[in-house]
Amino acid sequence: MTEAPTRRLSQLRRAGAERLLWARVAGQLASAGLTRSTRSLPTPVPPCDVLRSVAEVEQAVQECRRLKLAPHNDLPKNWDALGAVSTILHELDTDARVLDAGAAWYSSILPWLRLYGVRQLVGNNLAFDRVVRHGSVRFEPGDITATRYDAGSFDAITCMSVIEHGVPLDKFAAESARLLRPGGLLVVSTDYDQQPPDTTGMTAYGTAVRIFGPQEIKDFVTVAAGVGLTLLGELALEHEQRPVHWKRMGLDYTFIRLTFSRSG
Ligand SMILES: C[S@@+](CC[C@H](N)C(=O)[O-])C[C@H]1O[C@@H](n2cnc3c(N)ncnc32)[C@H](O)[C@@H]1O
Repeated sequence: MTEAPTRRLSQLRRAGAERLLWARVAGQLASAGLTRSTRSLPTPVPPCDVLRSVAEVEQAVQECRRLKLAPHNDLPKNWDALGAVSTILHELDTDARVLDAGAAWYSSILPWLRLYGVRQLVGNNLAFDRVVRHGSVRFEPGDITATRYDAGSFDAITCMSVIEHGVPLDKFAAESARLLRPGGLLVVSTDYDQQPPDTTGMTAYGTAVRIFGPQEIKDFVTVAAGVGLTLLGELALEHEQRPVHWKRMGLDYTFIRLTFSRSG
């Protein structure tokens, strides 16, 4: 098959998978046995954490099954998504306005929040070419470093596995601080390793592959503090294993998750 039909086929598959994902959300929302009030909340998590081991990946998948949240196919992604969703659900009400910055159509954050009754949900991504709605949830084109939203538009922003893909951190932090209301939360996850592997010459998503090390995380925390985003909890930087495997790049590493609060 030539390139154009192959691309068309993969677009059709993707559109089918996206429809199925949101049809499942609609089905669960309509199910009497799984109402917002009967759903158990995810286990509380520390505001900042590192994915330490393969066992923690398995625990996250088990937790998704227990909560009847369809697990992400990329199993370690359940760890960072559950952490972000847990933080938001334990800290905010269901009338929270949430932006998933750099959302992919397959991301877990917005469907899972929707299942808990959160309705004001937006996801944006540089790669989207049009607005797509799933009920009250809106996906739209957008650059997380320069958005169209008014100041103070959101109670929480999640940004999972995005900042390592060529995002200028100072601009991202400043825009997130602008978008959050005072006391609003920013939950960020990124590729991380206490001794990052060599990624010289590797590219993905049109930019150099980057795996943050401890000093780069500390530098990001300093940049964030400079625009009024205060890190919550203790910065955890150590891990026992490298549970994340990027097959195409031949890289093993882990994830880190950070939560910031917008100062008032
Ligand atoms: C590895 S994917 C992560 C997707 C999703 N957040 C998740 O956790 O599954 C990284 C995404 O970040 C998006 N991205 C990179 N820079 C961006 C920017 N400045 N604004 C919006 N999206 C961006 C890319 O288009 C890509 O879809």
